[in-house]
Amino acid sequence: MKRIMVTGGLGQIGSELVPYLRDRYGRENVIVADIRVPENLEEIEPFVKLDVRDEEAIIRVIKENDIDFIYHLAAILSARGEQNPQLAFDVNIRGLYAMLEAGRKTGVERIMVPSSIAAFGPETPKDNTPNDTILKPRTMYGISKVTGELLGLYYWEKYGLDVRGVRYPGIISWKAPPGGGTTDYAVEIFYYALRGEKYTCFLREDATLPMMYMPDAIKAITQLAEAPSENLVHRTDFNVQAMSFSPGELVEEIRKYVDFEVEYRPDYRQKIADSWPRSLDDSAARREWGWKPDYDLPTMVRDMIENLRRKLGV
Ligand code: NAD
Ligand code: SER
Repeated sequence: MKRIMVTGGLGQIGSELVPYLRDRYGRENVIVADIRVPENLEEIEPFVKLDVRDEEAIIRVIKENDIDFIYHLAAILSARGEQNPQLAFDVNIRGLYAMLEAGRKTGVERIMVPSSIAAFGPETPKDNTPNDTILKPRTMYGISKVTGELLGLYYWEKYGLDVRGVRYPGIISWKAPPGGGTTDYAVEIFYYALRGEKYTCFLREDATLPMMYMPDAIKAITQLAEAPSENLVHRTDFNVQAMSFSPGELVEEIRKYVDFEVEYRPDYRQKIADSWPRSLDDSAARREWGWKPDYDLPTMVRDMIENLRRKLGV
């Protein structure tokens, strides 16, 4: 039986990954670790308060809980990272290094470390972006993601610590709010639409980006986690494509269910979006571990609207 720790487990992805893993492996075998203590602690337990920059504390938690499998989700995302690049460096790079060292020293079997489309940069081909291409990001978040991909590969080849990761696009979900990324508009906008409020979008109407619905995000990371090692040519840097759309196209789809007003007022996040691809070639993920998404734009919007109507009571 696996003993799993999910760092950053209270965040957007962790909030849905943890229940999925607990259904599968048993509640007591999946420990949530986060720097924040949740208000609903009893619902979240087993929980440990952990700062991933503290290697000694990570080692202690791993040993005390017999952890052999880690989903390392603790991070500062792109927009928040540009507001505070020093913090992004500290958590995303120093924190990852502490995690890898703790994993190496304690003999952990596997660490899943999500990368991002932020690993790409302005020189990367924008459409059907190849898996293996130019990586020259200009955000601290993107720099931390490229560093993570390379460090993960290094620890695998040098120490046999099995580090794996997908390059997530923008993740859309209704259970927990996103944590400060450039793609957050694609979640926020649903709340405004369903409350009948005007939404001011911080990206341009035509700013197309790759996106993914949460059930596919959970499927991607767990499927890669379980893929036979011998099938993997890549390891820490898989492109995964699900859908691509612009704010304008998302608004058009949401308006099939509810009418609302939108204004476009791009801010500093537009520059970040401009440096990212519009769509990804994910043939390596398809070939090496059978990646295939279930949701496209219409099915994602229908599911978001249904669930948020129930959640918000509107
Ligand atoms: P999030 O911002 O929603 O959650 C991150 C969590 O990490 C938060 O609960 C926060 O409290 C915690 N955290 C922050 N600093 C910490 C520290 N020092 N020690 C311990 N915990 C700390 O992020 P998410 O959206 O759930 O993202 C998870 C992973 O997926 C990250 O690596 C992120 O870069 C990656 N990713 C996410 C998206 C997306 O759209 N959500 C897209 C691409 C990649
Ligand atoms: N959704 C993420 C962000 O915008 C991409 O990594 O930061």
